[in-house]
Amino acid sequence: MKKTILCIGAGYVGGPTMAVIADKCPDYKVIVVDVNEKRIKAWQSDELPIYEPGLDEVVRRARGRNLFFSTDVVAGIKEAGIIFVSVNTPTKTFGAGAGKAADLQYWEKTARDIIEHSGHDKIVVEKSTLPVRTAEAMRRILESNTKGLNFDIISNPEFMAEGTAVGDLQHPDRVLIGALETPSGQKALQAIKDIYLNWVPEERIKTTNLWSSELTKLVSNAMLAQRISSVNSISALCEKTDANILEVSSAMGLDSRIGPKFLRASIGFGGSCFKKDILNLVYLCEFYGLPEVAAYWEQVVKINDYQAERFVRKILMNMFNSVAGKKIAVFGFAFKADTGDTRESPAITVSKMLLEERAVLSIHDPKALENARLDLADCPGEISYHEDPYEAAAGTHAILVLTEWKQFRDYDYRKIFEVMEKPAFIFDGRNILDHRALFEQGFNVYPLGQREYSHLT
Ligand SMILES: NC(=O)c1ccc[n+]([C@@H]2O[C@H](COP(=O)([O-])OP(=O)(O)OC[C@H]3O[C@@H](n4cnc5c(N)ncnc54)[C@H](O)[C@@H]3O)[C@@H](O)[C@H]2O)c1
Repeated sequence: MKKTILCIGAGYVGGPTMAVIADKCPDYKVIVVDVNEKRIKAWQSDELPIYEPGLDEVVRRARGRNLFFSTDVVAGIKEAGIIFVSVNTPTKTFGAGAGKAADLQYWEKTARDIIEHSGHDKIVVEKSTLPVRTAEAMRRILESNTKGLNFDIISNPEFMAEGTAVGDLQHPDRVLIGALETPSGQKALQAIKDIYLNWVPEERIKTTNLWSSELTKLVSNAMLAQRISSVNSISALCEKTDANILEVSSAMGLDSRIGPKFLRASIGFGGSCFKKDILNLVYLCEFYGLPEVAAYWEQVVKINDYQAERFVRKILMNMFNSVAGKKIAVFGFAFKADTGDTRESPAITVSKMLLEERAVLSIHDPKALENARLDLADCPGEISYHEDPYEAAAGTHAILVLTEWKQFRDYDYRKIFEVMEKPAFIFDGRNILDHRALFEQGFNVYPLGQREYSHLT
C-alpha cells in the first residue's frame, strides 16, 4: 500500500472519518487506535459503538482490507507516516479557565506518545477541534524530541455532523487544510490533500494558514449555534405575540442572504461540540483582551440554557403548577435525530429539572436508551426506559417530544391517548407533530413559538 495512516481516537469523529478514508482510498492502510478497549472491540464487531446511518456498510467494505482497529497505540505510531489525532477536547473542569477553556490533556498526551515511539519523520494532523494557536504549542512539544525527527503539523478540522456523518464525509461541502507557510509545511499539506483528492473535487479543498484553519472550525460551530439561539429567542417572542415561528422562519429563510437552514425552533442545541466550542471561543476572546466579543458569543449559550428552562416552566405552568408524582413520557433523548449520542442533550437538562420537581419519567428513544441510562444513573427519582412508545406512554399525564426522530410522527396517537391519564398533554419541543390533529384527538398540545391547542381554556 502507498502509505499508512494512523488515527488516534476511535470516537464519533475518528471512526467514521477513517472508515470513509479507507473506503475511498484502497491503496492507503488505515489504522484506528484507542485506549478504550471496549470501543475498539465494538469497532471490530458487528455492533459498532456508534449509530450512524450507512456506517455499517462502509465499515464492512473496508475492515480487514485496509481498515484496522486496534488498542496498540505504540505499534500504530511506529508504523504510520501520517497521524490524525481525533481525541476528545472537552471543556476544562479545573484550574485556570475552568468551565470555558479546552482541556488539552488528551491531546498533549498523544503528542508525547508520538515523540516517544516515533522512529521516523511524521505528519501530525489536528482532527480534533482545538483552540487557535494550539498547533504552536504542539510544535514546541514535538520539536522538543531529541531524536532529530521532523514533525509537520497540519490542521484538518472535521465538519461532519452526527446523524449525517457518512453522507457529509462522502460529499463534504468543503475540506479545510491549514499548514505553516514553510516548504516542509506545504509539502505536508499536499500529502493530506492527496488523500482527499481520491474522492473530493479539488475546488472543494480549501487550504489556509494553520491559524485560520483552527479558528474557522470554532467559528463555524459558533455561527451555526448562533442561528439556533437566534431563532429560539424569537420563538419566545412569537408565543407572546401570536406570531408563528414556523411562518417567521420560512419567510425569513427565503431571503437568499439568510437561507433556510438551521432556522428550526427547538428546545435547543446539544451535542459534544457547540457549547464547548463556543465557550472555548469565549475564553480565547477573554484571554486576548476582547471582553465585548466574549460576551457577545457567550449569550448564544445563555439563550440555549434559557430555552430548555423556558420549556420546563411551560410544562409546569400548564400542568397546574405541579408535576410531583405525575408520570411523564420523554420521547427522544438523543441530542438530535439519527444518532444515539446524548452528550449535552437538552433532554438531560429537561429530565433533571423534572426529576427535581418529583415527576416520574418514562423514557423512549429509538437509539439512545443505553446512553440515557448512563446520563441519569445518579439522578434520584423514578425513571423507566422503553423501546416501545406505547409502553412508555401508558399511565402518563404528558408526552414531551425532545428529539426530532421522524418515526415519532407515525405513531398511533389515538392508541397513545387511550393509555394516558386525562387531561393528556403533549409538549412538542421540536415542532414535528401535527398539532391540530392531536388536539382533535383530545390532547392539549403545546408547540414552541406557535399557538397552543388547549381544551382547558
Ligand atoms: N462529535 C462530533 O460531531 C464532532 C464533529 C467535528 C469535530 N469534533 C471534534 O473531534 C474531536 C473528537 O470528538 P469525538 O466526538 O470523536 O470524541 P469521542 O470522545 O467520541 O472520541 C475520542 C476518543 O479518543 C480516545 N482517546 C483519548 N485520549 C487518547 C489517547 N491518549 N490515546 C488513544 N485514544 C485516546 C478516547 O478514548 C475516545 O474514544 C473533538 O475535538 C471534537 O470537538 C467532533
